[in-house]
Amino acid sequence: MAFQKMPGTQDFLPGATDTWQFVENKARDICRRFNFREIRTPMFESTDLFRRGVGETTDIVEKEMYTFEDRGGRSLTLRPEGTAGVVRSYVENKLYGEPDLSKLYYIGPMFRYERQQAGRYRQFHQFGVEAIGSTEPALDAEVIALGYTFYTEVGLRGVRVEINSVGTPAVRAAFRAKLLEFLEPKRSILCKDCQSRIDRNPLRVLDCKTDQKHFEDAPSILDSLDEECAAHFEKVKAYLTDMDIPFEINSRLVRGLDYYTHTAFEFKAEGIGAIDTIGGGGRYNGLVGEIGGPDQPGVGFGLGLERTVLILEHQQSGEAAAQPLDVYLVALGEAAEREVSRLLHGLRRAGLTADRDYQGRKMKAQMKSADRYSARFTAILGDDELASGQIALKQMDTGEQRMVPLAELAAAIKGEN
Ligand code: HAM
Repeated sequence: MAFQKMPGTQDFLPGATDTWQFVENKARDICRRFNFREIRTPMFESTDLFRRGVGETTDIVEKEMYTFEDRGGRSLTLRPEGTAGVVRSYVENKLYGEPDLSKLYYIGPMFRYERQQAGRYRQFHQFGVEAIGSTEPALDAEVIALGYTFYTEVGLRGVRVEINSVGTPAVRAAFRAKLLEFLEPKRSILCKDCQSRIDRNPLRVLDCKTDQKHFEDAPSILDSLDEECAAHFEKVKAYLTDMDIPFEINSRLVRGLDYYTHTAFEFKAEGIGAIDTIGGGGRYNGLVGEIGGPDQPGVGFGLGLERTVLILEHQQSGEAAAQPLDVYLVALGEAAEREVSRLLHGLRRAGLTADRDYQGRKMKAQMKSADRYSARFTAILGDDELASGQIALKQMDTGEQRMVPLAELAAAIKGEN
């Protein structure tokens, strides 16, 4: 074959895109109900933004970014996640000067150079939200509730919410020291990943899937929280309980990005091999300042849409059947052939979904097309009908057929006459 797509990328063909549109429409609809508004930021940003925002020692910055120099000699990076760009835009456009909070959402591709496996791609899509401008724990709960509502309404079953508090940088520094005391004596029996993480980011060691058996007595960050962090966490839990959002506390949950403070959470579900995290997020009270803006707190999430779609397909619970056509026009004869395009255009302008044959096929083949498109009606125009200004309209589910004046076709399909 001449050209093939790059590893870790996908073509979504018609059929698959029906599911994608269904999922994206749900996300937009729910955001409207929660009063989040869309923001669109560029697909590439300066490399420094991600270094600062996501964190120098994260896997993303150390080994997963698509970084290149443009012809002007700038170091650019394809966005590996959405938060840094949104916060950059928030600062650059001074959204903090507005009287209300910035409640923002985005849907779009992200890029990470990762090892390809089921549910892990190099170009993937996130539905994300960012609420910037309040430390109120009710907002953390609202963001979690929004994500949970999304999964519920697209029809995903068995989604679990895990939450933790990762405290403030000061809390984490104290906990890190305690944790190192626990980990150092075990260093030699831990896996290679853990050994290197002990030096770089010990909190992430507890996340390791293979070494869990060694961590039973590990200290919990929740015991190291200061009063303010503990109070915030208690309130988030109370708000979630009030909203009937089921959640579990996972004191070992540490996210792969550096900007989190206080609440960290993940959405999990079974159905894509080894991967069970389908979305994640948390609060980031230091990020806006880190990027050069005023000291504004934020909270948000990013949900992986490939993972959502994969599990939907696995559970076969997607309501993603192709959108049916309202009408398929069949022409028989030369004069009718000519008239059909004019009619079709009128139907489409009247708001109906409509199509015709362009392959010069026989009536039977055209009727089969109408079936494949799940057309509600077929309208059959022969030269004789045309001469009398009428068309035969057949309702496909009942098989009922009647003659309709050409000028009234759209109204008849809409059920107006
Ligand atoms: P993240 O945990 O890095 O967080 O990514 C969020 C979600 O994106 C993951 O749970 C997963 O579903 C999806 N995802 C990540 N990498 C891949 C991949 N290579 N292939 C397929 N799906 C993937 C963030 O990105 C944060 N910006 C979330 C956030 C927003 N926190 C606060 N606001």
